[in-house]
This record gives sequence, structure tokens and C-alpha cells, in this order.
Amino acid sequence: MTPTASRDDKFSFGLWTVGYNGTDPFGGPTRPPLDVVHVVEKLAEVGAYGLTFHDDDLFAFGSTDAERQTQIERLKGALADTGLIIPMVTTNLFSAPVFKDGGFTSNDRSVRRFALRKVLRQVDLAAELGAKTFVMWGGREGAEYDTSKDIRAALQRYREAVNLLAQYVTDKKYDIKFAIEPKPNEPRGDIMLPTVGHALAFITTLERPEMFGLNPEFGHELMTGLNFVAAIQQLLEAGKLFHIDLNGQRGMKYDQDLAFGHADLYQSFALVDLIEHGGPNGGRSYDGPRHFDYKPSRTEDETGVWESAKANITNYLLLKERSAAFRADPEVQEALAAAKVAELSEPTLNPGEGYEQLLADRTAWEDFDAKSYFGAKGYGFVRLQQLATEHLLGAR
Ligand code: GCO
Ligand code: MN
Ligand code: MN
Repeated sequence: MTPTASRDDKFSFGLWTVGYNGTDPFGGPTRPPLDVVHVVEKLAEVGAYGLTFHDDDLFAFGSTDAERQTQIERLKGALADTGLIIPMVTTNLFSAPVFKDGGFTSNDRSVRRFALRKVLRQVDLAAELGAKTFVMWGGREGAEYDTSKDIRAALQRYREAVNLLAQYVTDKKYDIKFAIEPKPNEPRGDIMLPTVGHALAFITTLERPEMFGLNPEFGHELMTGLNFVAAIQQLLEAGKLFHIDLNGQRGMKYDQDLAFGHADLYQSFALVDLIEHGGPNGGRSYDGPRHFDYKPSRTEDETGVWESAKANITNYLLLKERSAAFRADPEVQEALAAAKVAELSEPTLNPGEGYEQLLADRTAWEDFDAKSYFGAKGYGFVRLQQLATEHLLGAR
């Protein structure tokens, strides 16, 4: 029996995810386009609570005002009929030829001004639809050749752009925050702000850093060989996990955007465990949308599209069950205690202690038996990992 989703689980999908028609650099579409009303109805059926979209997903680039408005009204109708919401909105600054060298950081100043106008228009739509998060993925903000892009200037132009957006949202009194989404490469040879760490550092240089956080994507950190769960821990610690893109990626290669749980089950398990049980007192550490940003493989027809949408949800819920069982197992609790996992939360210094008291404490140095760690005092991390494995495989 597979678990079923409820709206409280907060599962959301991009219109461009299930709507992906199979185009890749080597071949055209393998499926017809899906209409937004149909997508909203099907997502409601599979148990999602939200839809997200780029402007160009809903109304094609270059649409007239009337065409744009028709699509917005059709979307609003479908939302009213199904009860789905729009938790997040984003802008496409990467598909149209005008953005071939980027939007906010194109070498061409007139393109940068056009990009800003496109985003401001989409911010208004986000506010109108009640979205609380505005994602910025700068897929074309980068370069193939080091001689062609002054990255320092590009960072300045990116800062200039996002400072303006924050000013706009503040003046308009919109209840919106921005989430930057890092990615190391693809479609550009190198993309600016390639990892969670780069983006976190950049945010500290902004005029209103409190309005900016991250939308990290599972696959994007794995493309660089980094650990996604560790990145999420750092974001939680910094209060900067504003949104999350869940999917699957096998190793350091092109962006696969596989369904969540269809690659790297260990990290998927640890991630769900962290999100669902990593908060204070063992509760949720992140309460926002569980957003799936994946691509149904181009081998599939529409049946496969909805099978894969359900797979994301089912795998998340199964991992949630597995992690709850892991936490509830007395042997796991005992192994966690033996591994001193909670002891790391204890400050290293006593209350009020400074270096003078530490230097005077003989137990910390003179009487401390560092040699006793040789051949003894193992942490039992392997046992803990084995218990996690047995829970993950359903053996406990
Ligand atoms: C990718 C990216 C994109 C962005 C999305 C939001 O797979 O390269 O995840 O899908 O998340 O376009 O702008
Ligand atoms: Mn991706
Ligand atoms: Mn993404």
C-alpha cells in the first residue's frame, strides 16, 4: 500500500515540470503540450496543493496583453475550481533568443533593462495570485569563455537588479520574499552563483538581505559533487531556506531532473528526515512547500507523466514513514546517544567561560588522556548508518 497525499503535505509542482514536452539538445518534442487547466486538475487529483510557474509557461513569450490576460483568467478559474494555490512564481530569463547572454547580467545594457521590466511585471502577477516566494534561477547568467564575461561587473549588475526588485516589493507593500536558486552549469558553461555557498555569501552584500534566501535544488548541488543535505543544514542554520526544489540526480553529469527518490536514496532519506524531524524537539525544520522540480523522461507519454508526478509524492511520503520509524526505534535512539550526536549541540565552553578559565582547566589539557582514543572510544557511526539502511530497506 502506498501512502496518499493530503493538502497539508504541501506538495507543489512547476507548470514546466509535468508540462515538459521532451525537447532536449538532440531531439524535439516527444509529447504534445499540456494545457494549464488540465494540469491544475490533474495535480489536484494526485494530491498536490500548489502550482508554480514562469511567465512564459502560462503565456508564450511575446503574447499580447489580451492573450496574457486570457491565460491568467483561465488559471484563476482552475484554481477556484480545485482549491490549488500558487505558493511561488518565477520569471523565464533564459529561453528567448534575447536572453542568450543572460538577463540581469547580459553584456547588452538594453537587454538588462528589458529583463528588469519582464521581472517587475511578473512580480505584480505573483502578488496578484498570492505567491509568497519569488524564485530567481539565473540559468543564462554566466559564460562559456572567461574572456567574454567580466564576472565582477556581472555580480554588480545582478546586485543592482535584485536591490531594485526588493525596493519595488517594499514600496508596493507586497508580501513576497526572493529565493535565489544556484546551479553550477547548464545551459551556460559556467553559471554565476553556482552553489548554495556562493549565493549565501552574495546575499550578505545586498541592501535588504532579509528579503533574500535560497531555493536550493537537490540535483544542482549533486552536479558539483557536493552534499545536498549538508547544504540544507547550513541554510536552516542561517535562516535562509525559503523554498526547496526536490528531484533526483545520479552523480556529476548533466542536470537530470529525475523524480525525487529515483536517485540517491540515502540522501533523499536523510533529507526527508532532516525536513520532517530535524527541527527543535524533533518536529519539522522547514514548513514551506515541498516543491518538485523534475522532468518526466522524454520516453514517456502522458500516462507516464502522471505516473512520475505521483512517484515524487509517493517516494517523499514513503521516506517520511521510513524516517519516522527510524526515529521511533529504541535501538536507533541508543545508537544516536552512543554516537554523541546530541552532544554537539552543547556549547564547548561553560557559561561565562573565556580562554583564561579554559587555560586554567587541567581536565582540558594536563589531565586529559588523548592517548586513550587509540584503539578505543569508537563513535559507532557505522552502526547508526546500518540501522538507517535497514529502515530504508524496510527491514525494520
Ligand atoms: C533547472 C532549474 C530550473 C529552475 C526553474 C525556476 O532544472 O535547471 O531547476 O528548472 O528551477 O526554471 O526558474
Ligand atoms: Mn535542475
Ligand atoms: Mn529548480
